[in-house]
Amino acid sequence: MTPTQAGPTSAATRTDAALAAALATVRANIATFGGGYPDDTTRHGVYPPRPATATLPEGANRGWTTSFWPGMLWLAWELTGDDAFRLAATSHVASFAERVDQQIDLDTHDLGFLYTLGCVAPWRLVADERARSAALGAADHLMTRFLEPAGIVQAWGGLDDPGQRGRTIIDSLMNMPLLYWASEQTGDERYAAAARRHAAQLRDHIIRPDGTTFHTFWWDPATGAPLHGSTQQGYTDDSCWARGQAWGIYGFALNYRYARDESFLDAARVCADYFLAHLPTDGVAYWDLDFTDGDDQPRDSSAAAIAVCGLTELAGWLPDGPLRDHYRSHAETILTSLATGYSTATHPESNALLLHGVYDWPGAVGVDEGTLWGDYFYLEALARAVLPERTLYW
Ligand code: GLY
Repeated sequence: MTPTQAGPTSAATRTDAALAAALATVRANIATFGGGYPDDTTRHGVYPPRPATATLPEGANRGWTTSFWPGMLWLAWELTGDDAFRLAATSHVASFAERVDQQIDLDTHDLGFLYTLGCVAPWRLVADERARSAALGAADHLMTRFLEPAGIVQAWGGLDDPGQRGRTIIDSLMNMPLLYWASEQTGDERYAAAARRHAAQLRDHIIRPDGTTFHTFWWDPATGAPLHGSTQQGYTDDSCWARGQAWGIYGFALNYRYARDESFLDAARVCADYFLAHLPTDGVAYWDLDFTDGDDQPRDSSAAAIAVCGLTELAGWLPDGPLRDHYRSHAETILTSLATGYSTATHPESNALLLHGVYDWPGAVGVDEGTLWGDYFYLEALARAVLPERTLYW
């Protein structure tokens, strides 16, 4: 991929137009979604309500993606100062507090995604005490998933589930900021120590020698020995799932932000270098990095949006110079490509912000659709571009 040659004015104009379109969609979705939660992905470009389960009604706060909606609302408030966004965002705190208080669907490492955006953001932005308390409750619950002697946070399933015990996944790096935040808030070092050990285990085992990553990796829960990698949402166990690689860029860079361990920044660079070297011409990754120009496979715009945020975070920790410029320039190129070729700015029939994401190709779920997290990270990427000094929620 060649970084864009467009001048700063044209890039800024394109970003402004993309941002205006995205904010208009978020505003319209306040009424569309009401007090409930949309599903993980669109269907034919439109988000249906989150389906009911045997115990929870339609639109309930369950699953791993609900916080991306209030996350978008908080970003929209920061970007506009319009209280309609702040009021809508604040209204979700009660649901996240109830979810952790009543232990609804908490058997997951995704508590970091959920409570960083659902509750740490309102604590950081408007000092919402109920949100702080709920986020600390979620951090405590996440700590119950930290397995000794392996030193990892189990990703999925109950802790007594033999099919999941000892397994973690690269996405989990994004859930560690909740633990660093809990240490900052409480003065209890245990949360941050667990996060550092978990990130170090992934640095040592989930990254392969060639700079690709496994989606998931297993440890022996009894001895703590590292066992083997496998995939869940990638093409094969040996391929490089694009979103996983993007989680690696952003997740390791965020772990560096808090732990200040240089090896985490190096790990983010390893993930970034492979990701950037395996992009198609327009800079928006195919859903698995084994595919490239000419392959009859869908893109994953969400991987691209996450990578933009990760590259920007990574660049921010590097000294002034060509390397920092290299990552920044690629982030700008990918963001411009998303805004001009993948956003819904010219697709008013969709209520997503980005088209052409992939949730789970092997499972045939959400293929070539909008995704809640892709929309969130696209808006975060735009916010990073226009408000570089803003407080990060992670
Ligand atoms: N964290 C789940 C996914 O990226 O699909």
